[in-house]
This record gives sequence, C-alpha cells and structure tokens, in this order.
Amino acid sequence: MPSTDWVSRWPLREAREADLYFYLQAIEAFLPHSHVRVRGHGEMLLLGGYSYLGLNGHPDILAAAEAALHHWGTGTPGARLLAGTLAQHQELEDTVARFKGTERAMTFTSGYAANVSVLTTLLGPADTVIGDKLNHASIVDGCRLSGAQLLRFRHNDMGHLAHCLRRSQGPGRRLVVVDAVFSMDGDIADLPTIVDLCRRFDAALMVDEAHAVGVLGEQGRGATSHFGLPPDAVDIHMGTFSKAIPSAGAYVAGSTALIEVLEHEARGFVYSGSLPAVNAAAAQAALQLLMRDPAPLQRLRHNTRHFAHALQAQGWLHGDHPTPVFPLVCGGPDETLRFARACQRHGLYVQAILPPVVPVGSARLRLAVSAAHRPQDLSDAVATMARLASEWGLSPQVAVPAAPLDQLEAVEV
Ligand SMILES: Cc1ncc(COP(=O)(O)O)c(C=O)c1O
Repeated sequence: MPSTDWVSRWPLREAREADLYFYLQAIEAFLPHSHVRVRGHGEMLLLGGYSYLGLNGHPDILAAAEAALHHWGTGTPGARLLAGTLAQHQELEDTVARFKGTERAMTFTSGYAANVSVLTTLLGPADTVIGDKLNHASIVDGCRLSGAQLLRFRHNDMGHLAHCLRRSQGPGRRLVVVDAVFSMDGDIADLPTIVDLCRRFDAALMVDEAHAVGVLGEQGRGATSHFGLPPDAVDIHMGTFSKAIPSAGAYVAGSTALIEVLEHEARGFVYSGSLPAVNAAAAQAALQLLMRDPAPLQRLRHNTRHFAHALQAQGWLHGDHPTPVFPLVCGGPDETLRFARACQRHGLYVQAILPPVVPVGSARLRLAVSAAHRPQDLSDAVATMARLASEWGLSPQVAVPAAPLDQLEAVEV
C-alpha cells in the first residue's frame, strides 16, 4: 500500500515543528483541586476538562466500582440482547429513569454510539430531522447516516427553527434534535420555545444532555428541570456518563414504547458488547450521590459565578454566564494556538479549539470550571491569562458567535 494513502488534512508536521501541537498530551496523574501532572509539563491546573462536579475518585463511587469489579470482573459475556445483560445494567437503568422522571431508560457504551444508534433507528429517508447548527458531531453523524432530510437552523434562533418546521410539512416523521448545553459554547438551548414549536408542528424532540446532566436543574437532573418543564416535554432524553458522571457510557430515557423499540433495533445496542459492570456501578453511584448530596453542585455553581466575576473584571465577559463552559474566543487559529502555548507554559492546562470543530473566526480556548477547583486558583488563572493576553496584544472575549449560516442549509443524503 503506498504510504501517501494516509495523509492527515491537519497540518500536523508544521504544528509540531512550531511547537503548536497540544493534542493527545498524556496526563500521568490526577492531583487534588483539579490539578493534573502532564507528561513533559509537570503539574498544571486543568481548566478545560469535563469533570464538572469533580467526582472522579469520590469515595462512594470508588467503593461501588470496586464492589462491582470484585463481583463481576472487568468484562461482560456479550451484547445486551444475548448474554450481556447484567442485573447491574437494570439497576442503573432504573436509577436513570428515576433521575430523569421517565418511564424507562437504557444504556449504551458511549454517547457517540447512543446518538448515532437512536437517530438511525428512528429516522429514514422519508423523514426530516431538524437540528441546531452547533449540535455535537455525533448528532450530525446520526442525522446524516439516517438518510433523513437534514435541516439545520441558526444557533438557538427560534424564528429559524419555526421556518424549518414550516418547510418540513411532508408525510414523514419530523424530529427536532438539540444539545441542551452546547459543548463548545456553554450556552443553553431555548428549550421552552423548542418544546412549544415541536407541539405546534407535531414534531418529536430529542435532547442531548451530555453537558447538562449533573450541571443544570435541581440535583443536576438536566434541562427540563432547569426550565421547570415536565420530563415528558422531551420525547428522547440522551445523556452521557463521561462528563459530570465520572464513568463511561450513556443513557437514553423516555417512554416504555420508545425504549422497547430501541432495545431491539438500535444497532449500537444490539450489535455491541454491553457496558462493563464497573462503569455501570460507578454511574449509578454518582447519580445516587447527586440525588442525596447537594454539595458538589453547589460548589460547581459557586465556582462558575466566581470565574465569571474574574472574567468580567478583565472585560472579557459581559453579563452572566449560565454554565461552567466558557468559550474564550481569541479569533484566528494562529493567535489562539500561541495563546494556548503561553498558558500551558505558565501551568494552565488549556486546549485550543479550532475550525472546523467551531465556526471560522471563532477559534477559542474552551475553559471549563469544576466543583473541584479552588476559587483562588481560578482567580490566579484569569490573572495569568490576562497578563499573557496583554503581552500578546490579544483581547479575547467569552462570546457565542452566531454560526455563519446565511440561508437555510438543507443536506439531503
Ligand atoms: C454533546 C455531546 N454529545 C455526545 C458526546 C459523546 O459522548 P461520549 O464521549 O460518551 O461518546 C459528547 C462528547 O464529547 C458531547 O459533548
């Protein structure tokens, strides 16, 4: 096979040569207060992780995982429909259904698999799926693979969503799908309006709560709780165990009828080995912890406000910020990469997020606050970034730029 077959579209060699390659850096150890030891860098403050509640290593979760490890071992004997369903899965699924207030829930081995499987099972070429322009890649992939007509509305633009719904009045099914918290932008979908529009236009609604579970709503129950909506305002609740919940895997929750269809037809469930019991037990223990102990969520909200105030004091943030994800938009890829490098050299473990992951012109550091951070560390981090930004002549802003989408974009697959 000729070696030229496998050429990355990323300028990897140039980035490495310019010391501007920051990905796949190996963390050697998790240290207290959201510090990490990174190979080649030493100790750094982790400012871009997903561990919103700082629960990785929590004694109750570790104890549950250890007990499951000893009881079940490390693997499972098969896929869920065959020999792979363990009592531990059913206990977790009952806990998820209770947590989300739905009739039933099921689990997948990853959020990516859940989104692709659900969308490809429920939709086909006769149907229309309508999604926010900034939806996560796993949603976009699921939409495309389903063969349904895909309409994308401008980010959180409810007028544009209504326009798409009006345009999609064919005989097939209509499904609207959105992230609850946008993972690269940290803003929240306008769920009350979306629910209202779905009802008016007879469309089903799927919400991805990967960054909302453990973060939004009472006890971290997610977006419906945050907005005071009943759980059945959303037809398909999806969330992951890989962020605020310190494990791996994902859930889909909804009506009994929905879950029964997915359990027998969703290919990522039917044709994939089941979630290891250790992950299921850790996820269950974390959800139980959220339902009985408000302290981690209170600390997260306190730290989010503290970080927002520090950014406001620099003039980098105007007004409040609703979630722990802060997109510090620096502009072009070059200045963003150089800023990230300067931050890393000063002990801040931040990552540059560049197009095409985010729209052109909005390269950013995706900063994320955790309940495990110490407020003083967050203040010091902002002070360091401010000094470096002024040295580099940068004036970054926490902002969610509108996705460039001048006209309705329809992709027919
Ligand atoms: C919004 C969103 N959905 C889905 C996923 C995929 O979840 P997982 O990491 O469990 O595959 C992610 C992961 O980053 C995400 O941010």
